[in-house]
Amino acid sequence: MSADIPVSSAELTRAAELVAAARRGVAFTGAGVSAESGIRTFRGEGGLWRQYDPYKVASIEGFRSDPAVYWGVAREGWRMYRKAEPNPGHRALAALEEAGHLVGVITQNTDGLHRDAGTRKLIELHGNGRTVRCLDCGATEPRADIQARLERELPPRCRVCGGMHVKPDVVFFGEALPSAAMMEAFRMARECDLMLVVGSSLQVYPAADVPEVAADRNVPLVIVNDEPTPLDVAATVVVRGRAGEALPEIARRAAGA
Ligand code: APR
Repeated sequence: MSADIPVSSAELTRAAELVAAARRGVAFTGAGVSAESGIRTFRGEGGLWRQYDPYKVASIEGFRSDPAVYWGVAREGWRMYRKAEPNPGHRALAALEEAGHLVGVITQNTDGLHRDAGTRKLIELHGNGRTVRCLDCGATEPRADIQARLERELPPRCRVCGGMHVKPDVVFFGEALPSAAMMEAFRMARECDLMLVVGSSLQVYPAADVPEVAADRNVPLVIVNDEPTPLDVAATVVVRGRAGEALPEIARRAAGA
């Protein structure tokens, strides 16, 4: 469902009022917040998992049995990924933190764009894809160096031990999430006075448990997504639209509220 449907002003105003009243708000984001930066989502329109088998590409078992599958897909996507920059949606969240409405962002994204946009408190539940680590000897490398080798080396070899299980520092299916990040995310959800969910289908657990903690506490829940999510029923307000358009407008109205 593309977001050519105009976002209702009443929803934007209601969301802005809730954001303006927040002093310990938390944003929880997914791939949809980076879609307007040119990074493909996973399940939405044109999502990666509509083209590729997530088990083969992004499960730890699949990766261990054939790392070339992952790196083949990464080679295709690199041209867009490497030139991706924060969009107005990322910047609006950083501005809401600066303005004292949000205490931070909890993200499922591994693209690092929230940090680039100026978010100070950032919890990366699924890791960060800018670094790559050898599963055999632990050596790390910047992702850009590995991507540059993919034309002549697929899968890429570890530059230290020569091993072929060089993996981005992200959480694959079948792997545990970083425990410190999870604990901090749940603490933030238990203490927040607003939960702002942006650009996630909320289908992947345990990450999707985080906004549910806030929903169960009946704190105001604002959802910005261009298609329905399972948590819409619990939302105080749902803004059906693009994050890069809706968030700056919400921030603008919150500043005036
Ligand atoms: N603005 C708002 N919402 C958008 C936009 C946009 N510009 N573009 C897409 N969306 C919505 C999609 O319609 C979809 O509902 O964002 C959601 C993205 O959902 P997913 O693709 O499932 O991404 P996410 O929820 O982040 O996935 C969770 O799954 O594959 C794993 O580890 C991966 O972190 C990822 C996790």
